[in-house]
Amino acid sequence: MSWNRKHLLDIESLTVEEIWTVLDTARAFKAVGARAIKKVPALRGKTVVNLFVEPSTRTRISFELAEQRLSADIINFTTEASSLKKGETLKDTARNLEALNADFIVIRHSASGAPHFLARVLNASVINAGDGAHEHPTQALLDTFTILEAKGKIAGLKVTILGDVLYSRVARSDIWALTKLGAQVTLCGPTTLVPRVFEQMGCRVTHNVEEAIADADIINLLRIQHERQRKTMFPSLAEYTSLFGLNQARLARTKPDALIMHPGPINRGVEIDTKLADDLNRSVILDQVEMGVAVRQAVLEILSHSLD
Ligand code: CP
Repeated sequence: MSWNRKHLLDIESLTVEEIWTVLDTARAFKAVGARAIKKVPALRGKTVVNLFVEPSTRTRISFELAEQRLSADIINFTTEASSLKKGETLKDTARNLEALNADFIVIRHSASGAPHFLARVLNASVINAGDGAHEHPTQALLDTFTILEAKGKIAGLKVTILGDVLYSRVARSDIWALTKLGAQVTLCGPTTLVPRVFEQMGCRVTHNVEEAIADADIINLLRIQHERQRKTMFPSLAEYTSLFGLNQARLARTKPDALIMHPGPINRGVEIDTKLADDLNRSVILDQVEMGVAVRQAVLEILSHSLD
């Protein structure tokens, strides 16, 4: 097993071998998840705190199920009912959680770098569940695992990421993971949301959606991240949908086996036509959710060795 770290903070710093360690381990956990008894004792006696300071549906419940299946003790931290609301700092909150002998802190935070900060001040293993517009490493690992399961390979595939790339932590983590594993990544969206500076990450940038999706094996859609945009980045949602939304007519001009992905939450009728979102022949959006549990089990199990 190739893995030499206590925390999972980003994809940027992972080696290709470390990414494959997670994907190979996830495949084993996927097989365990198909059994009648899905629970294993890998984290028995270990305590995991799910510190979600920003809203989440998929990542939060996926981590919680992964932890349950590994037999961990779990603390679900709720911001609204916490002393963060009374002005307690993130550092003090996390130190109090660690005083309860937490072995893992899974943190989602609106501030980029919050997980890296906790990793410096805590003894627990820290897992980044999404920090601002920086990274969302377990999403990229589950996206990569979903592609691998569907296509049997990553190297050589053409992956188009379409939408609000600028404010997307998923895009950044996906770009790191996919390019490291040899995929050809194309980014597309309005010029304000897909600046050419992303070419420095090894991607092709185009603002022509037909060109971006014509020969794609994977079309990974992103929602408009209104909560992070500091100003209006395009004239209207209707114009965005008209110019960049994935609809039946556009999909008809793609490869017949091109798959549609989306990290969620989806905005039906904006970045994706509602019928396409439910088209199980083309959409693997719910497969991504399913793969997320196996991938998060893999990450927790691998990191648990650094606690021994
Ligand atoms: N994909 C993702 O991060 O979704 P949530 O915000 O619901 O966790």
